[in-house]
Amino acid sequence: MAEPIVTLQSIEKRYGARTAIHDVSFQLYPGETVALVGMSGGGKSTIMRLIAGLEKPTSGRLAYRDPHIVTRVMFQNDRLLPWLSVQDNVGFGLRDPAVTELLAAVGLAEAADLYPAQLSGGQRQRLALARALLAQPQLLLLDEPLGALDALTRRNMQDLIMRICAERHLSSLLITHDVQEAARMADWIIVVKDGTNVYQTAGAKGQGPTVVASVGEDVLQVILQPAVTP
Ligand SMILES: Nc1ncnc2c1ncn2[C@@H]1O[C@H](COP(=O)(O)OP(=O)(O)OP(=O)(O)O)[C@@H](O)[C@H]1O
Ligand SMILES: [Mg+2]
Repeated sequence: MAEPIVTLQSIEKRYGARTAIHDVSFQLYPGETVALVGMSGGGKSTIMRLIAGLEKPTSGRLAYRDPHIVTRVMFQNDRLLPWLSVQDNVGFGLRDPAVTELLAAVGLAEAADLYPAQLSGGQRQRLALARALLAQPQLLLLDEPLGALDALTRRNMQDLIMRICAERHLSSLLITHDVQEAARMADWIIVVKDGTNVYQTAGAKGQGPTVVASVGEDVLQVILQPAVTP
């Protein structure tokens, strides 16, 4: 197997006296999609912020295969700039064929001159995706980007993200509260609980709906297990 593009080893992150995560270890391989699931407050977003380089771990080893790795983050809130048109939200005024190509790839070619307020929720997330892709990241970090979408739009977005990641051989880390979404989109799933990765599945993607359903069920069981009190 190829070298992992990101390695986390015994990562700890404290904010003052508060420990957000402790002892998080896993590796992400090129072209892979990994989902982080688990209860609120478990530490998923903290892990993602550390991988994105937005914060530094308190201790442990966080290593990238390529020190110049380009990562981009997509959040539940699309963080679009309301005063810029669709194409300018992607290219920031840059008139580049890459912008046009990206808008076409996410199905927004016709909407290039509209403003974010004129878009539906699904279109806004597709725009946020196009913007994230402009820098040609090797790693896409997705922090519940589909959480606010209706079921059908959400499914279409899942397909779009999976297709784009496959076409561009992109690795991605997906945080989601939806275990079925994790099982559908990810190659494997990590359950994060009380600041540590407590469980991870073997590969799931491409193994058919029965396997996916049983993986989802296993993962749910782990998430719902009561915390062990010492
Ligand atoms: N900047 C911060 N300062 C202090 N504590 C923080 C900070 N960021 C996160 N925490 C704490 O770290 C823990 C993990 O938070 P995190 O946001 O990573 O959880 P999460 O799994 O993403 O939750 P959710 O599913 O609700 O988004 C929480 O207890 C949170 O209060
Ligand atoms: Mg979070």
